[in-house]
Amino acid sequence: MTAEKRKIGITDTSLRDAHQSLLATRMRLSEMLPVLELMDQIGYHSLEVWGGATFDACMRYLDEDPWHRLRQFRKYLKNTRLQMLLRGQNLVGYRHYPDDVLAEFIKKAVANGIDIIRIFDALNDLRNMEKAIYCTKEEGAHAQGTISYTISPFHDLDYFIRVSRDLKDLGADSICIKDMAGLISPFDAFELVGKLKEQVGLPVQLHCHYTSGMASMAYLKAAEAGVDVIDTANAALAMGASQPATDSMVAAFKGTKYDTGLDLELLTKVSAHFQEISCGYDIPREVMGVDTNVLSYQIPGGMISNLASQLADQKATHLFKDVLAEVPRVRADLGYPPLVTPSSQIVGSQAVANVLTGERYKMVSTEVKNYLRGQYGKPPGEINQDLLTRVLKDEKPITGRPADMLKPQLAEARQEVEEYIEQDEDILSYIIFPNVAIDFFKRRKGLLPPLQLNSSCSRGKAVNRVAGLPNEQNNLMLDSLFSVDETLIWRDEINIVYPAG
Ligand code: CO
Repeated sequence: MTAEKRKIGITDTSLRDAHQSLLATRMRLSEMLPVLELMDQIGYHSLEVWGGATFDACMRYLDEDPWHRLRQFRKYLKNTRLQMLLRGQNLVGYRHYPDDVLAEFIKKAVANGIDIIRIFDALNDLRNMEKAIYCTKEEGAHAQGTISYTISPFHDLDYFIRVSRDLKDLGADSICIKDMAGLISPFDAFELVGKLKEQVGLPVQLHCHYTSGMASMAYLKAAEAGVDVIDTANAALAMGASQPATDSMVAAFKGTKYDTGLDLELLTKVSAHFQEISCGYDIPREVMGVDTNVLSYQIPGGMISNLASQLADQKATHLFKDVLAEVPRVRADLGYPPLVTPSSQIVGSQAVANVLTGERYKMVSTEVKNYLRGQYGKPPGEINQDLLTRVLKDEKPITGRPADMLKPQLAEARQEVEEYIEQDEDILSYIIFPNVAIDFFKRRKGLLPPLQLNSSCSRGKAVNRVAGLPNEQNNLMLDSLFSVDETLIWRDEINIVYPAG
């Protein structure tokens, strides 16, 4: 079926978001390769294959080079557009990187095979997205501007329209509504998509997670409002914390004016492959099914399970309800950021600290301090003035674009890792995840033993245990399996918790 006849496009997320949401980003390239040529025949609008947490997880847990993975995708997916998720100026990491690094990263991503870059910022701060949009266009790729969807006193229809118009002015080719927590109701989706189509005039793509159980209803109403593309995952890796099922949405629209034009029989074969793969993983109850806590607390599902595991580490499971109640309060104090990487980690960790210490903001993480300094950008609402004074004292927050304060880093980094470099891309891996990349390079050179990965698809063993780590630490990894993003920053060496005084 040709693109002209297709009313609604499908971006399938099986190779990125779906396994990040359900399998803690642990799916290996070897588990994907056998199905790629089949997927290439489907006629998806695009396949989301790279970015988000996959970059980190490749090196940290799977002993894989993320760049090699991308080149393999390109090799076997000749007819399908490849899409990635980029955290704006944070790239695929958790903090801002200087512009020279950003430009080089996007250049290499496109050169290695990416066609569409979905660019978002946790605060919807345009200054954190403008350079990425510019560089994407420069490289000749499709720049998708993103609004991180959330609900707060500061996020209404006008706000989202305003941000989308600004994204268009910056050169975005399309707009994505990124509903990472699965909050959007069907009727809100109808209204937002309709208004965006009418008032912004760019193609609109809707990205929902199934957490609250409303996502496929939201897609249906969005279709009625004129949505151009929806994000789905193959049936075996759909629903729960992931996306609605490709197969179901294709079936639902079949024969209507929204017909996707995709072949259900072929899709069944794709799902059968991933069904087999997913048998090798224990998908925990929390990331499957429906969790309406997300609506009361507005906390993404992955974050809830991570808060639970952080508390379990501290033997403080009995405080879980207090932490859930504290998260919205911290979020309000910080000016209502949407909860998505890295703001979800910043808010979540602080809420845990507030409850564990028994005194709010007795301890403040480096990230919260930097957030208050304006180093992540401008929050949607006002920051609590008392908190600001308590933490920053006389220090004035910055008001400019955060990345303007960063010095170029490429040249220096090249020298630092010269002995390990096998490709230019290695420098970027090193800049974004210094310690993880060095360990990976050493294993690649045979200077460290390889990670011991469980044999593929061995039932019930989703975690790839790291050889040489005491069991206790491996168990920590087991806890963190289903919340990889949050855990990485919480245990990241840069995240030092210190007294705010
Ligand atoms: Co997502």
